[in-house]
Amino acid sequence: MSAEDMEMKHRGSDQQNGSLTAKEPPGVETVQLKKRVGLFSGVALIVGTMIGSGIFVSPKGVLREVGGVGPSLLVWTGCGVISMMGALTYAELGTMIKESGGEYAYLFKAFGPIPAFLFQWTNVILLKPSSLSAIALSFAIYVGQPFYPACVVPDAVVKFLAAVCIVLVTSLNCISVKVAARIQVFFTAIKVLALGVIIGVGIYSLAIGNTLWLTPEKAFQTGHTITISDVGLAFYQGLWAYDGWNNLNFVTEEIQNPVRNLPLAIMISIPLVTLLYVLANVAYFSVMTPSELLASGAVAVTLGNRWLGVMKWIIPFSVACSTFGACNGTIFTSGRLCYTAARKGHMVEILSMIHVKLLTPSPALMFNSFIALIMIIPNDFDAIINYFSFAAWMFYGSTCLSHIVMRFTQPDAERPIRTPVIFPALVVIASLYLIVAPIISEPNLWYLYAAIFILAGLLFYFPFVYFGYHPPFMKYITMFLQLLMNVSPPTEAPK
Ligand code: ARG
Repeated sequence: MSAEDMEMKHRGSDQQNGSLTAKEPPGVETVQLKKRVGLFSGVALIVGTMIGSGIFVSPKGVLREVGGVGPSLLVWTGCGVISMMGALTYAELGTMIKESGGEYAYLFKAFGPIPAFLFQWTNVILLKPSSLSAIALSFAIYVGQPFYPACVVPDAVVKFLAAVCIVLVTSLNCISVKVAARIQVFFTAIKVLALGVIIGVGIYSLAIGNTLWLTPEKAFQTGHTITISDVGLAFYQGLWAYDGWNNLNFVTEEIQNPVRNLPLAIMISIPLVTLLYVLANVAYFSVMTPSELLASGAVAVTLGNRWLGVMKWIIPFSVACSTFGACNGTIFTSGRLCYTAARKGHMVEILSMIHVKLLTPSPALMFNSFIALIMIIPNDFDAIINYFSFAAWMFYGSTCLSHIVMRFTQPDAERPIRTPVIFPALVVIASLYLIVAPIISEPNLWYLYAAIFILAGLLFYFPFVYFGYHPPFMKYITMFLQLLMNVSPPTEAPK
């Protein structure tokens, strides 16, 4: 069954499900998500999600794994190259399949509904909310720290602030797409400026002669021999800081002139972030020695404390802004994944609805944030993220594979942008390595649990999607929620 058939079938079942369809309210022509994302906000959605807290803290993780300055810089550059190859692959996919939902839409087209369902199941229930709560928790630590100068911020305070952040950003996203897009641009500007300050300090420090650890002899002095699994773990750390490169593909339907703006935004954003990240690392290694960097809890803050004098508060303030903006970008796009999947009958119907006046996918946004709020509760879910980042790479790899497969299965499809096949092929190889290396070097039952979780999606797929069983009470719940939230299924756009 094709994607369109699936959507038609699902739409056709609206009546029998008993959901209420909007009579267009006065003053609003259609209940539709509008095209509000231009080139500028598109760049902000990518750059502003990629730059979260990673670049301000992860350099330590990369250095710890590879042991030297030179290899660290190579890993940071390599992460940028992998992200760029992935994003260029997604540029072809996004301009060929002009549907929102990112990987979900591409896997659906290339491999059919089951892989797409498993993707959205894993992402909606786990990956998206867990990355949202991880970023919100970093936000909370940086906001809370000034109030506890002499100790670590108490756990309860961190959790409370993280929850406030999620609720606030979700409310803004539910109220207006325009406001959410403006917030994204504003906070992206702040974080780019903050990295500019760090790089400026680095340039000054290099100019006055602090170049010891960047000289070839010192840079390649490593504390230990680097194994292949060290490289894999270092890439995981770096790639978390680059994660978000695929963000704009989740909202293709809302981009103005996507054939021009999607690839252009990708081609501006990823090289820009790579340049900023590599130069920020050069700055860190100019102002501190590798052992000082390893001893620092948050490397950017250490740099600020040493070099910015009375202005040192800029760094924690910027990290707080940076993480807030990354939360905004994450909610913006995760909501669209859930919404697109629900539109094809892969999620409960209410999640495919749009607020009739505000024209935002508010049920999907709230659902996503609700799960993220639950994920704040456990004490240490870092492990979950680690083990599941292997799941994330499985999906990036499969999506790049779908690019190659569709060149054969759909050779005549219109492709306004053609990305050389070598790029997706290299990302597939990189992702295979990222999936397999940690399992071999540190076999752990968690990987098995992660795989079981992904496959458990089938327990929902077969009864509710494939056989189309709808519990009779669902239509009452849907109607009740529709009236409560003032939402309706999207209507067709005027021709
Ligand atoms: N790169 C971000 C950071 O360094 C994390 C992005 C998480 N992924 C996402 N799609 N929100 O904090």
